[in-house]
Amino acid sequence: MVVKKVEEEKIENADVEISEEKVDELIKEMKASEKSKKGSKKKKEENKPQLIDLPGVGPGAVAKLEAAGIYDLMGLAVLTPAQLSDMSGMSESVARKAIQASRQMMDLGFSDGLAHEEKRKELFHITTGSKNLDNLLGGRGIQTKSITEAFGAFGSGKTQLALSLAVGVQLPVEQGGANGKAVYIDTEGTFRPERVRQFAEGIGANPDKVLKNILVARAFNSDHQMLLLDRVAELIKDGEPIRLMIIDSLTAHFRAEYSGRGQLADRQQRLNRYLHNMMKLAEQNNIAIYVTNQVMSDPAQMFGDPTKAIGGNIVGHACTYRLYLRRGKKDSRICKLIDSPDLPDDATAFMIETAGLRDLDL
Ligand SMILES: Nc1ncnc2c1ncn2[C@@H]1O[C@H](COP(=O)(O)OP(=O)(O)O)[C@@H](O)[C@H]1O
Ligand SMILES: [Mg+2]
Repeated sequence: MVVKKVEEEKIENADVEISEEKVDELIKEMKASEKSKKGSKKKKEENKPQLIDLPGVGPGAVAKLEAAGIYDLMGLAVLTPAQLSDMSGMSESVARKAIQASRQMMDLGFSDGLAHEEKRKELFHITTGSKNLDNLLGGRGIQTKSITEAFGAFGSGKTQLALSLAVGVQLPVEQGGANGKAVYIDTEGTFRPERVRQFAEGIGANPDKVLKNILVARAFNSDHQMLLLDRVAELIKDGEPIRLMIIDSLTAHFRAEYSGRGQLADRQQRLNRYLHNMMKLAEQNNIAIYVTNQVMSDPAQMFGDPTKAIGGNIVGHACTYRLYLRRGKKDSRICKLIDSPDLPDDATAFMIETAGLRDLDL
């Protein structure tokens, strides 16, 4: 099969026909509805112990902890007194008491390996459409209750992989899917229904049905993008069988909005909070999250591939599986798995074709 070259400009900048005012209005609306929701949520969660309920932890310390990415008792319970004292400004002895109290409140016990294994059986896997890639990820593609990140240069295939997963998730479990729907948060305007049709036809599925099972939202800035997470939670609560959330791209808005020198810490803090909420959503609802990320050149690196993912350690640590994509020989794509908790670092290759991702003989 001949691999068609697609004009890249077309992919790069899609239409934004909506006006700035409209966007502001939209965000205001979403924030208002979030606020009213928070009010009612508070009532529901009143019985659940919070950071503020710990001895020696006041509102000032809570704010500092949240800024450091710690939002709940679990986050605090795993700290050492020195770490907590550093983060919150409280003395080490007060910190020690707070940690002990949080551990008591949470009943931080052990669960045996079997129970743990039982829990992991609930996981779904979603095929990427390429056997090579699925194998790289442990045999069955990406996993629910985890975040998989693909980073790479423009045109390396991050969006194509996203579209392929959005189709794959809909397959029955026996065929490598999770029998579910996908949510696609598009920050760059590169979601292409035509491509989804082609992928669907490639596996003999009904393109209309496949498209109907992908819920797409365009995110206009990082605020909007973060708020959309709540919308996804609502959809799930309303009974939508969502098993996959795609964020394409995770970092582009953050990168554009926080480009000043002094803004890096702010950006990282917001990204951190966002990723934390994302992981919670994935774990609580047994969904898979796939995010794309750009690269920037790393002037410090003199040999090898001089590129680095945006967001640095914050993104790196939050994502369970990291894939590095790049173009290889003859228009192939090379995919490298990096720092996985349970799989060897390895690489594989595939082609992007009209009907889907195709394996290359290795
Ligand atoms: N219909 C198609 N047939 C073959 N290759 C395609 C097709 N559509 C896109 N591609 C390939 O995918 C590339 C774009 O990949 P994409 O996933 O959009 O990159 P990015 O990593 O920037 O998201 C194109 O440059 C082209 O090589
Ligand atoms: Mg893309």
